[in-house]
Amino acid sequence: MKPVVTKIGAACGAEIVCDLAQDIDEATFREIEAAFHDNLAVVFRRQNLSNERHIEFSRRFGELEIHIVEKYLLPGYPHIGLADAGFTWHSDTSYRRRPSRCSLLYAKEVPQRDGQSLGDTVFANAIAAYEALPEGMKKRLAGLKAIHRYSARRRVADSPRPKLTQAQLDETPDIAHPIVRTHPYTGRKSLYVTAGECVGIEGMPEEEGVDLIAELDAHCVRPEFLYRHKWQVGDLLMWDNTSSMHLAICDYALPERRLMHRTTVIGTVPF
Ligand code: SIN
Repeated sequence: MKPVVTKIGAACGAEIVCDLAQDIDEATFREIEAAFHDNLAVVFRRQNLSNERHIEFSRRFGELEIHIVEKYLLPGYPHIGLADAGFTWHSDTSYRRRPSRCSLLYAKEVPQRDGQSLGDTVFANAIAAYEALPEGMKKRLAGLKAIHRYSARRRVADSPRPKLTQAQLDETPDIAHPIVRTHPYTGRKSLYVTAGECVGIEGMPEEEGVDLIAELDAHCVRPEFLYRHKWQVGDLLMWDNTSSMHLAICDYALPERRLMHRTTVIGTVPF
């Protein structure tokens, strides 16, 4: 059956009606993929997925990543991560040579208070952000590369993330990616830089680089580029890590629980 796609955000975001527990033929998959490319963050509500099915659907988009921090993995399912919400704006695994194409988060438990769900995830449309830049800034950014560092997020004062071992640091050396990235499937240009993960700009004095990163980060997260997702149990939400960045809102605490299963699809070398 043809999936029904409805936009749910002004900047990005759509709902796709489709039961992912059923077999998805190639034509239906291509429609889902096109809607995903158009909307950057798409949600399939009221899903009832086994771990195997979550993995199988994710694999339609490419090879799956195994997180380097073992305690983030679901026992028995190394391709399913349990890591809780990030503390800074980021695009998943941007610190890799081949960063993630997309992530697929399946909501098992969503914290609630006074009848409201907590732990929203906010997405920024980095294509719209790029297109809105003044021409002078676009020229300045052409050819520049930002340096992405996995451990950068751990600098955030209240980050609960564990310190990395030397072996994990060795596995994730700093990597430079173009600040203006071209989408490998749609050819659209977007900003690919976040203050949380980027520590400088290649060939630029450190302070100047950090200031430019902060300016671009602040530009990307202007309200007109955002979609804020309010979670429901059973949501399978997938987002495009090439052309969007996201921030999870940590506004809950035990006994309020948030449990998400995530898969992360490996992408291509940014260009
Ligand atoms: C993430 O921050 O990468 C995951 C998003 C979330 O937990 O809402």
